[in-house]
Amino acid sequence: MSHRVALRFHDDDRGKPVVGIADTASALNPCNIGFSRLIPEVERGIRDAGGVPARFPVMSLGEDLMKPSAMLYRNLVAMELEETVRANPLDGVVYLANCDKSVPASIMAAVTTNLPSLLLLGGARSAPHFDGKPLGTGTDLWRALDKRRAGRMDDADWLGLERTLACAGPGACNTMGTASTMAIMTEVLGMSLPGTAGLAAIGDELVAAAYETGVAVTTAILRDERPDVRLTQIALDNAVRALAAVAGSTNAIIHLAAIAGRLGLDAGLARMDHLWRDIPLLADVEPSGTGLIHDFRRDGGVPSLVAAMGDQFDTTALAGDGETWAVAVAAAPEPSGVIHTRANPVAAGPTLAAVFGSLAPTGAVIKTAAATPSLIIHTGRAIVFDDYADMRERLDDPGLDVDANDVIVVRNCGPAGVPGMPEWGMAPIPKRLVEQGVTDMVRISDGRMSGTSFGTVVLHVSPESAVGGPLGLVEDGDLIELDVPGRRLGLLVDDDELERRRALAHPSPPRHLRGWPKIYAEHVQQAPDGCDLDFLAALTPESRRFIEPVVGRS
Ligand code: FES
Repeated sequence: MSHRVALRFHDDDRGKPVVGIADTASALNPCNIGFSRLIPEVERGIRDAGGVPARFPVMSLGEDLMKPSAMLYRNLVAMELEETVRANPLDGVVYLANCDKSVPASIMAAVTTNLPSLLLLGGARSAPHFDGKPLGTGTDLWRALDKRRAGRMDDADWLGLERTLACAGPGACNTMGTASTMAIMTEVLGMSLPGTAGLAAIGDELVAAAYETGVAVTTAILRDERPDVRLTQIALDNAVRALAAVAGSTNAIIHLAAIAGRLGLDAGLARMDHLWRDIPLLADVEPSGTGLIHDFRRDGGVPSLVAAMGDQFDTTALAGDGETWAVAVAAAPEPSGVIHTRANPVAAGPTLAAVFGSLAPTGAVIKTAAATPSLIIHTGRAIVFDDYADMRERLDDPGLDVDANDVIVVRNCGPAGVPGMPEWGMAPIPKRLVEQGVTDMVRISDGRMSGTSFGTVVLHVSPESAVGGPLGLVEDGDLIELDVPGRRLGLLVDDDELERRRALAHPSPPRHLRGWPKIYAEHVQQAPDGCDLDFLAALTPESRRFIEPVVGRS
């Protein structure tokens, strides 16, 4: 009875399932602010399907504002959601998520608590025109930044760009950045309704999807359909392949590994690289293509992409509506526009690759689709920056001894090192070289880069330098060999010399972290394991039992 009183149940609500709505709307997160408009529709869908809605607030992870990175807080939100769901009498949950890290955090919580649930993504922001073309969030800003640094963009144009960006309204980045990529991953994994990835944040279609999501979760509760039925190794492998087909954000590699870790599934780099090898680029969307996520959705979205992938996608996996993907594909438009067929791909694969070697013993990744083809086999002199601050201070120094064949190394950007593994991996091209017309160089880091970024950038080098990885031993002038076709990343320095350097290396001075960053730095796993906390990653039968008995109908 106390549950019913606390939830303000009417008499005719007795016995109905209680459906939580995890609300991440926040004025500090423009990507998620639009949920305020959608919540009444989710509630209406829940009620119409026979449930009782219960909205609750959740920390909002906005990539634009949070420092050093919203990634530092992904696991915290996953934990907040898990504990809220575990501690309250909920029967199912609609997770409202949109900006990059709120999506994987919600999936991690959903698969851990394993209550009937779906995510409702908040849609993509609009694309106001600038310089005669629709503005792709992030990607076009990076391009403009290089023009600005090269002196080819004056103050008036720069201000015009800022004003245009500010007019884009609510919603997630509209290129194939991390948010769009994770929206696609969510849909492929069966954790959102089919056809919803890439909807416009301000359109009526998203309002309808909000209602349908409320209905679908309530229906799933009544049928006792839980995420573990959908999120199998087959579904995960589908997601890994779909990631390559859209040349999605490298951040999704980490998030998929974290989700796999919660479920005891395999999303190791070797398996992913194997799955990526024969997948061509099928989505012509920035930064690896020309369109925006609106175009992708207009041309059929994920169901048409799955159709285009043919036998590279196992359609026996379940979509978010509880039907197999074969059903969604049968109703999907033929691939067209920015969604290409395998017979006529945007580019040959692989679009992503994992590399291993003396510089990355447990792996690193590169988005080959966004790299310069002539640089994917390259040996060059290392120009080493000890951390992000060092890079910012010295990169544009006219006296820096650097040329276009060098390899820029930025270290101490990893999960434990910062902590939080910020998107510092795409170091800018040194200004002197930009002015000479250089547009790309090999860059190597133990950090991440934005999904909207591009270039020949090797990321997630593991183990990271802050925990003793060999990236910490590189010195200016060492030769580094990148061989993407051979899947190698080597430091061409002999073992004796590396041992000598290791013996001389000074441990980093102790950092005076407190609160969450302290817990995070002490427990975060490396990138190939998804950067989850070690005590959250492995769900044992005992910890599963700890979660399950607490939830239940009121
Ligand atoms: Fe939020 Fe890109 S900054 S989705």
